[in-house]
Amino acid sequence: MAQHVGLLTAGGDSPGLNAVLRGIGKAAIERFGMHVIGFRDGFRGLMEDRTVDLDEETLSGILTVGGTILGTSRDKPHRMPVGSRILDMTDIIIRNYHKHNLDVLVCLGGGGTQKNAYRLLQKGLNIITLPKTIDNDVAMTDVSFGFDTALTIATEAIDRLHSTAHSHHRIIVVETMGHKAGWLALGAGLAGGADVILIPEIPYDVRKVGQAIIDRSRAGKHFSIVAVAEGAMPKPGTDTLGKANKKLLNGKARGKAAAVHGTEMGAKQVGHAMRLAQQLETLTGLESRVTILGYLQRGGTPSAGDRLLATRLGTACAALIHEETYGVMVASRGEGTKPVPLSEVVGKRKTIPRNHAWVQSARLVGTSLGD
Ligand code: F6P
Repeated sequence: MAQHVGLLTAGGDSPGLNAVLRGIGKAAIERFGMHVIGFRDGFRGLMEDRTVDLDEETLSGILTVGGTILGTSRDKPHRMPVGSRILDMTDIIIRNYHKHNLDVLVCLGGGGTQKNAYRLLQKGLNIITLPKTIDNDVAMTDVSFGFDTALTIATEAIDRLHSTAHSHHRIIVVETMGHKAGWLALGAGLAGGADVILIPEIPYDVRKVGQAIIDRSRAGKHFSIVAVAEGAMPKPGTDTLGKANKKLLNGKARGKAAAVHGTEMGAKQVGHAMRLAQQLETLTGLESRVTILGYLQRGGTPSAGDRLLATRLGTACAALIHEETYGVMVASRGEGTKPVPLSEVVGKRKTIPRNHAWVQSARLVGTSLGD
């Protein structure tokens, strides 16, 4: 009997989602003769029973397309906004799973989705997940799809910011996404040759950042690129400049407010990058600007690396369904894949170890990490 497979994409969108849907769907249909449907807009579409038949035609031509053809949402089964109320819709989701005679529900998502999928597993559904996020913070996998594309976009942005920072003798603070992990800022900062990289895993002292920029200035480099992760935090007690700024001031601060360009982020994030730029302007006397890369990092066609990863994970997922291996996340391990029990994935976040090779390399090439 043909196996029935349901697919959904949940959480923030990410390059490579369609490539994974295609990888699972093509292998499932063409190699294993399965029947595949998709649910629209994440767990909400499963609750509202909004489906799309995923046949060979629907899956064709989507390998290179950004976003997700299924749509996505951050709605959780057990806390779903319905009208003006937040309700536990798990029972309805379970009913719809059985209504479609599903043998398995495959959930493509980040940390939150892994948790939500695990809850459904505990309620008795057959579940498989795949690790999606540009933040690269899903535990137990070498890498998540979407990260390589975002890394490439952020690196290219840092490359481009160099010439304008250099021409105007400015500091440019460039903020990457990443949630509470610094993979994007550290990876793009290292690849793009940022002078300072600030990540959540290493709280910074703004005075040390200012000093690093002043040292560059004294060495004849009158511009600096500061790559800052959206989740980066000052060390407790170091966020105000106090008297220390007088010591560091290299000429009079120009007092000109730093400007923000290309932002679509929430006010909180903008506030953080702006505040940092203003502090650095005061500490160094160099004019500062802010660029927040925001959703540019998530949009558009996946990189070749993400297409390969997505196809590798997606086809491995179809093979696991064929073997009836459920309750796992399809992780990337070296050149291959590994099914990891979902119970070992949930509730963990993959952050950057302080002795990670990228951290050591950054220090060795003289990049300030602000500590
Ligand atoms: O999870 C990916 C991510 O891009 C984070 O880096 C960021 O904080 C978040 O999504 C913002 O997404 P949204 O505005 O869609 O909630």
